[in-house]
Amino acid sequence: MDMRIRTSLVTGANRGLGLALVRHLLERGDHVIAACRVPGRATALNGLAGEHPGRLHVLPLDVADARSRSAFAGELPLVLGEGRRIDLLFNNAGVLHAGERFGTLDEERLAHSLRVNALGPLLLVQALAPLLADGARVANLSSQLGSIADCTRFGTPGYSISKAAQNMATVQLAHALAERGIVVVALHPGWVQTDMGGGQATETVDASAAGLLHVVDGLDAPATAAASSTGAVAHCPGRRARARILPALAAGPPAMIDLILYQPEIPPNTGNAIRLCANTGARLHLVRPLGFDMDDRQLRRAGLDYHEYARVVVHDSLEAALVAIAPPRLFALSARGQVRYDAPRYRADDAFLFGRETAGLPGDVLAGVPEAHRLALPMRPGNRSLNLSNAVAVLAYEAWRQLGFPGAA
Ligand SMILES: NC(=O)c1ccc[n+]([C@@H]2O[C@H](COP(=O)([O-])OP(=O)(O)OC[C@H]3O[C@@H](n4cnc5c(N)ncnc54)[C@H](OP(=O)(O)O)[C@@H]3O)[C@@H](O)[C@H]2O)c1
Repeated sequence: MDMRIRTSLVTGANRGLGLALVRHLLERGDHVIAACRVPGRATALNGLAGEHPGRLHVLPLDVADARSRSAFAGELPLVLGEGRRIDLLFNNAGVLHAGERFGTLDEERLAHSLRVNALGPLLLVQALAPLLADGARVANLSSQLGSIADCTRFGTPGYSISKAAQNMATVQLAHALAERGIVVVALHPGWVQTDMGGGQATETVDASAAGLLHVVDGLDAPATAAASSTGAVAHCPGRRARARILPALAAGPPAMIDLILYQPEIPPNTGNAIRLCANTGARLHLVRPLGFDMDDRQLRRAGLDYHEYARVVVHDSLEAALVAIAPPRLFALSARGQVRYDAPRYRADDAFLFGRETAGLPGDVLAGVPEAHRLALPMRPGNRSLNLSNAVAVLAYEAWRQLGFPGAA
């Protein structure tokens, strides 16, 4: 990270790890916003605010409560002032309902764990996204108890289920914010001596807080690091610990792009695109209505086998396709495009939209794609546009070439 004064936000900051994080952040010179449920009762935090005039703001926030989150998001810009953004956010607030037994599990307690530990951080980051600096770090305090791979016995189900859900929320957020260079991670702080961890825990709050900051400061790569799909998390007990890059993270984003054909009309074009996707590893999406049945003889004439067919997804609408794919960037090919197709630097999670053979993309659909993402294929003047399946092939191969032909023999 650079040396300018950072602005950091910690939730659940009145005690335990949250309070220790606030202390460490103040010691290293950050502006800190400390959020807690009842500031009036946060004696230690208010003491710190007195010791660091102008550098610590204490604001009310119950992460599980929609109204509280929204009031917090409304108040934060006033505290930040003109142009200042959050550089580092610790979603630290968490709850563990002790004493859960199989046979007497309580729905409301389970739902409360989910609201505090998983949905709260997810929705808070969504609400605060405009206030996060590009390149910011978001650290979600997860737990090894949320690891599906490490779960060997029944215990703390509400906590474990909610932390596993939080891990998925972390991955989702990492994808949603990747384009802005914002890194979202799930961190296990070790077993820490707090009200939650208890007196037998092996780590002091200071050692754990120092370890967490050490790991977060080391997240310089613009790569997206997050919890793995098994629910495992980066481990960081103690100062010298390092975040483990888990296999699912090292695997990185998908190897190939998504191609979307909007209401294709002519079966052989789609047949060719299916074959192209089987050969390049791109995923193919068709948006209804289609000008043919999927078992159309002409489609089959493209010589497709079951394996190739199985790669195609048909969506009821473009909206449904975009929700399902959730591409960070969408490019559209159009005769009205201003950007030559080989100019952008493509990424494996890009999606490409192609219009109908006869009419191209409707104006309102094209208007929804940023001008800088409207692509054109150069052609000699006075000619009709390229055949759809040729255009798809040209773009798919350009993107595949730029990505280094991943998966090619
Ligand atoms: N301690 C460990 O061994 C350990 C291990 C793995 C992960 N973690 C994780 O590390 C984080 C901090 O844990 P800790 O040990 O410091 O826990 P703690 O001592 O129990 O403190 C929990 C903090 O979260 C706050 N909180 C709870 N519900 C909230 C809500 N709805 N809205 C806002 N704040 C809320 C609490 O505020 P109130 O005072 O108002 O209740 C308190 O400040 C948690 O996410 C926890 O799951 C801890």
